[in-house]
Amino acid sequence: MSGDWNRICTLIEMLPERGAACLVDGYQIALFRIEGDTVLAVGNFDPFARANVISRGIVGTQEGRWFVASPMYKHRFDLRTGTCHDCAEVCLPVFPVRVDSGVVYVAVPEE
Ligand code: FES
Repeated sequence: MSGDWNRICTLIEMLPERGAACLVDGYQIALFRIEGDTVLAVGNFDPFARANVISRGIVGTQEGRWFVASPMYKHRFDLRTGTCHDCAEVCLPVFPVRVDSGVVYVAVPEE
């Protein structure tokens, strides 16, 4: 269940294929703008490095799937599902994103 939409920033403030970190209701979130106007959001906390670094990761594609490679130990996480490419049991949370009239909104789980 998602809560209300939280206004984060405008699309033009986001550099293509670069991450941006934000804090929404206590959730550390990493946002990535890919393929023009598409924005995806995953947790910013790297469970391997145990640090909020995912937004500083390198974005890429593998077999058509967008991933972010953590800047610490280079683990790759799918940006749509949050799953780690090599270890299905590890994943990042994913958050719904909406882009409306050039404004980026993210929803987080309700308390
Ligand atoms: S644990 Fe290294 S890529 Fe998943």
